[in-house]
Formats: sequence, structure tokens, C-alpha cells
Amino acid sequence: MSGQPSELHLFVLWQKARRVEARILEDLGQQKDIEILGKWELAFSGPAAEAYPAFYGGKKPMDGPLKVRKCGGGPFLLIVVRNLNPTYGSRWARDEKYYIANELMYDLKVRYQEWAGRKHRVHGTTDAAEFARDIFILSGHTAEEWARGIPDDIRLNIPACAGWRLVMDDVGPGLGLADCRVLLENKYINDVFFEGRFHGRPAVVKCSSTCAWSINNEFRLASRLHAVAPSVVAEPLAVWTSDDGRRAFVVTEKVSGPSLTELLEQGVTAAQADGFAADILALAEALKETGILHRDVYTDNFLLGADGHLKVIDFQMSIDRNDYREDPWVAAHPKFLYVVFGVNHNTPCGCWDDRAALDAVLALLPATDAVARARRKLAAMPDIAFTARPPLGARLTLGAYAISLMIQSHVPWRSRKRRNQARKRLDTIRARGGTDVDGRDPEAVSAGKDAT
Ligand SMILES: Nc1ncnc2c1ncn2[C@@H]1O[C@H](COP(=O)(O)OP(=O)(O)O)[C@@H](O)[C@H]1O
Ligand SMILES: [Mg+2]
Repeated sequence: MSGQPSELHLFVLWQKARRVEARILEDLGQQKDIEILGKWELAFSGPAAEAYPAFYGGKKPMDGPLKVRKCGGGPFLLIVVRNLNPTYGSRWARDEKYYIANELMYDLKVRYQEWAGRKHRVHGTTDAAEFARDIFILSGHTAEEWARGIPDDIRLNIPACAGWRLVMDDVGPGLGLADCRVLLENKYINDVFFEGRFHGRPAVVKCSSTCAWSINNEFRLASRLHAVAPSVVAEPLAVWTSDDGRRAFVVTEKVSGPSLTELLEQGVTAAQADGFAADILALAEALKETGILHRDVYTDNFLLGADGHLKVIDFQMSIDRNDYREDPWVAAHPKFLYVVFGVNHNTPCGCWDDRAALDAVLALLPATDAVARARRKLAAMPDIAFTARPPLGARLTLGAYAISLMIQSHVPWRSRKRRNQARKRLDTIRARGGTDVDGRDPEAVSAGKDAT
């Protein structure tokens, strides 16, 4: 392979590993394939016993107080490194299975854990996805931002779970909320989800300090859609915003059933498919009538209600086609919208075309007559009902990004993996819009279309 591939990784020395900090840094300095990008001392803002589970959240439940006893709750050290010539091989994982890991990172982590006296005192990332997740939580910056350079405002981004719990205790009862416990933590733009009861009804509370505006947006637009199509939209119940406008949560009825992703994995029957097709069509009609563009239509965002109807959730990124407004954080991170949504959903459309996204969902169902009819009906609905053109500024940003991806997809000094990643993203943008939402945009970035 030509050029010199590299990968970013990190180590965390929790407080009780810091007595061997100097030795670890010296050893890292001597590794010919490791370049230390920097080290930062960080401290938890709230109780460490709450912060640890938030950091490891989503992987497996953790006993916070035990972790504090083993690893310490005081200031800890983040070390970010570049691994040149990374190689992958199978390594032993906790659960008696082998997994494919970055070999050098894995081996160094094991060595430093031994030096620290206890395994859990040193954390290290062993693949790119783990780095991407951890670096965002530890530094408040994404892996892509790090790939461009070392950010100068590194701040711990562990969701203020403890803080949100205080908010729940403080304002929850006044709103009618009770028995809130954590459901999910560390989602990309939301801090934490609680499940609890709202005036006795099972409810989910979604809390954000990154995109507070979008939380209110979700409540506003979901309420409008729910009024028109109550059986296929999870009911929004309440919304709260802090006085400074930086934090907000929205309360929604808890939909009891599995997601459509899970249903498809289990196997959807023909009878179920017919019902789901009718639900999706009803949703399409409601979107058309209200002028709302959901923009995050994919199987994870449909949940099966106790009444047997599929209900759509997650209106954070939705827009009103007649009154286009964007969350300020999202507006400042257009890639999030165009690339993350487009690529991750893996549907033949960008986030600006609900009809294509709804059709992609229908296409995943068993192809019954009713499903085929629903697809024809959807196709016959007026074009304009389901798309919106992104504003010029956003299109230009995306165009510049597309050009940078084109360059990245060709230059030989990038690893093949990075080149392929860039190519895949580029294909997604080209095929699915963003710049070229409906294939008729005269200002579509021509370079992105012609140059390869
Ligand atoms: N009303 C709800 N009922 C049941 N589960 C929910 C509800 N809202 C959210 N969830 C759960 O939380 C997850 C994330 O919620 P979502 O609103 O889709 O936020 P995100 O933007 O993070 O995807 C969902 O995939 C689902 O598992
Ligand atoms: Mg979602």
C-alpha cells in the first residue's frame, strides 16, 4: 500500500492510574508507530459515580460507586495519539470471544493496565468507531474535527446526567412527571433519555443541551402532525426549556412495542405488512396536509403501538416546508444533516425527501398487494408535498465538502480505507441530494457531478 495510513486513538488514565503516568508517557514516546498529539487533564463536573456510567453508557450497565473505588473519582488524563501503519488482528474480548482490534493499541492498553495494577484503571480505544464515540464524549469534538486538527477548546462532554436528574426532580412534578429513570445516554446530540410517568401515563423524556431549539421544534411539529393523524404519531405531551434557553426536554407518550427495525429482523407477516403500509400511507397524507417534512424517516424511528399501529417518533430535525428554520447547532454542522443522515439511513434519498424515505421503508416490507398499492399511491402524490430545497448557503457548504471528498477519494497518501469512505460518502451525496434534492436543481454543484 502506498502512502502512510494512520488512525487516531486515545488512552484515558483514570485517577488511580496516574501514579504510572510518567512511565506510560515515556513508553508511548518510544513507540515508533505512535505519535502523541497531546494530553489533557480533565475532571468530572458532577459526582464521578454518576459520570462513569454516563461515559460507558450504552455498552453495559455499570456500578458507578464500585468504579470510583477501583479507579478514583479525581482528575484524569486524556492522551490522544496517532497510530501510524495500524494493523488489525483478532484479540481476546471480555465475553470469552475474539474480536478484531487494532493490535498495537490493544497490546499497549493491556500493558498499561498491568502497570496501573488494575485492569479498569486504563481505558484505550481499539478501533475507529470506539475512538469516534469516546473522543466526542471526552473532548466535545467529533473524530472528523480531530482528523482536521487538534481542537483548542477541549471540554468534557459527559452528559450531565446528574444535572438532568436535578432538573427532573425540580420541574418534573410541576409538569406532571414522576418516576423518571434513565433509558438511554450519550446519544449524539441528546444528553439523556428518561422513561417515567406523565400524569400516570408511560412517557419518554428526551433531554438536550446541544440542540435545545430542536427539542421545541420536535414538540411543535409532532403536535401538529399528531392532531391530524393521531394513530400514527407518538403523542407529544409536554416541553420544558431552561431560562437561558440552552437546555430543553420534550415528553412524549411511551410507545410500547419494538421498532420497525426489530420487527423486520423478527419477520413481518403479510397481514402485518398490510397494516403497516396503511399506517405509512396515513402518515404520508398527514405530512402532505401539514406541510411538515420529517427528514429522519427510517425504520428505527417507527415503533409499534399497543393498538397495532406503527407510530413515528423523532421530529427533532423536522421542518415546516412553508416556514423553513433550522436548529442553530445543526445549521452550523451541515454535514451532520447531509452526510450522517444520508449515509446512515442508507436509503436512496437525502433527508430532504420524505417520500423517497417512506418508499424505502415500504420496500422493506413483504411485497403484498396492499404494500404495492401503497407504493403506487405514494408515487402518485404531488412531488412538492415531500421535498424542500436546502437553502443556498447550505448547498454551497455541501458543495465545498463534496469537492473535498473528491480530492480525498483520489489522493494516494490517504489509506485505502479512508479513500473508500470518502468515495462512499460522495456517492451518497450525489445520489441522494443535499445539493441536488430532486434532480432538478440548476445550481447543483457541477464539479460534484462531472469530475469523476
Ligand atoms: N415515544 C417513545 N416511546 C418509546 N421509545 C422511545 C420513544 N421516543 C424515543 N424512544 C427510544 O429512544 C430512542 C431514541 O429516540 P429518538 O427520538 O429517535 O432520538 P434520536 O434522535 O437520538 O434517534 C428511540 O430509538 C427509542 O428506542
Ligand atoms: Mg431516532
